Amino acid sequence: MDAELLLAAVLTVPRARLLTLDEVPADAAARFAALVAERASRVPLQHLTGRAAFRLLELAVGPGVFVPRPETELIAGWVLDRIAGTDRPRVVDLGTGSGAIALSVAHEHPGARVVAVEADVEAIEWTRHNAAARASAGDRPVDVLAGDMTDPALLRDLDGSVDLVVSNPPYVPDGARVPREVADHDPPLALWGGPDGLDVVRGLLRTAARLLRPGGWLGIEHADAQGGSLPALVRAAGGWTEVADHPDLAGRPRYTTARRAGGPDPQ
Ligand SMILES: C[S@@+](CC[C@H](N)C(=O)[O-])C[C@H]1O[C@@H](n2cnc3c(N)ncnc32)[C@H](O)[C@@H]1O
Repeated sequence: MDAELLLAAVLTVPRARLLTLDEVPADAAARFAALVAERASRVPLQHLTGRAAFRLLELAVGPGVFVPRPETELIAGWVLDRIAGTDRPRVVDLGTGSGAIALSVAHEHPGARVVAVEADVEAIEWTRHNAAARASAGDRPVDVLAGDMTDPALLRDLDGSVDLVVSNPPYVPDGARVPREVADHDPPLALWGGPDGLDVVRGLLRTAARLLRPGGWLGIEHADAQGGSLPALVRAAGGWTEVADHPDLAGRPRYTTARRAGGPDPQ
């Protein structure tokens, strides 16, 4: 699969077109061989093609930014389900990286007013690049903000007014074994979350509690092993209702959702 995608990228054709190609020019074959060697040395496929598919979008990625993962498409889908039927929902994506969730929400819900927050100075260049590309393509512009999701002063002007906060935060417990593609190529700030992986989540919970309006929604992606600990953390924080955990397509616990207390009763 990776070899086919690399050859398709070299030839700038869709992968399905490879079946009908009669020959590969020598210069393209040489570039392909070089890319295969890089992939064999565990450089991520998306860094070699420069693109990552996420839901309906293709995003630019490369060194310095986290490559969006297919499982994150699920929490983005949950966001879109939650805000469907609301005219101008205000959505905040904390730790936006390439902008995958924020830009998908803006693309798939044209009325959404989306703020995307990122702390990493290199990653945010990719966010800005992708956000500009989507705005040029006609999507409602996403506000990209350099900031720390655990900062008590972050987005103070939005306190109590946000309809939905979403985050795929760094959640890998320090010292956990990860594949070389991840360890050597995803930015450290995107991965490591302290001894239990939940250090950043603790601060993010306080930020979300402050930003959300009563009845507003929170969604947080997490590691397989955090399907019990993350919902427990939310319940222990107090002020949340309808705390639930959701599996991914492989049946593994993948994200926690909750509702800010004080809103209308659930329908
Ligand atoms: C796991 S990546 C997810 C990126 C993107 N949301 C996605 O799903 O592909 C976590 C992101 O959070 C950012 N980040 C880590 N700590 C942060 C903090 N305290 N405040 C804001 N962003 C942070 C990282 O730089 C990284 O881009």
